[in-house]
Amino acid sequence: MSSQPTQITRIGPLSQPVSLGVEPATFSSMVEAEIDSHLAKYPVARSAILPLMFIVQRERGYLDPAGVLYLANRLKVRVTDIWEVATFYSMIHTSPIGKYHIQVCRTLSCKIRGAGQVTEYCSNKLGIKVGETTADGRFTLSEVECLGSCGTAPMLQINFDYHENLTPEKIDQVLNALP
Ligand code: FES
Repeated sequence: MSSQPTQITRIGPLSQPVSLGVEPATFSSMVEAEIDSHLAKYPVARSAILPLMFIVQRERGYLDPAGVLYLANRLKVRVTDIWEVATFYSMIHTSPIGKYHIQVCRTLSCKIRGAGQVTEYCSNKLGIKVGETTADGRFTLSEVECLGSCGTAPMLQINFDYHENLTPEKIDQVLNALP
């Protein structure tokens, strides 16, 4: 048996001067203080990436390039580190979104309990397809993977609220009750 020396290739971090062509977002001192309070919880700044993303999204409506640049600077990470996380989670938006984000679960339990009909019902009621936003900017319709509420399938999430054991009547009730 020949014993070739093992060659180890070390992959260093990418150097990445990405230009987004925008200035970083700025926030009020109150928002900055909120951001500081999250950063103070973690020994490594980048661990605060999700709470900070939620704040930036809340303040700017979605994670726009200026917000991404702000986060990259604040967390001392690369712009693509921010994009990688932002594009992984369905609750982080990298393009403008409606006031109410309807996320219909399409995974197994919901699927066999009528998720397809839920999506179709919402789509017909609102006059939009999955991935679209109503013209008045009020509703965006998405399909997402399991939201961890399989026992109450079919279900959907609107912003941070779950609505479960859905029927057409219940969907009407939920949507009509939104302010
Ligand atoms: S499959 Fe829909 S919540 Fe789990």
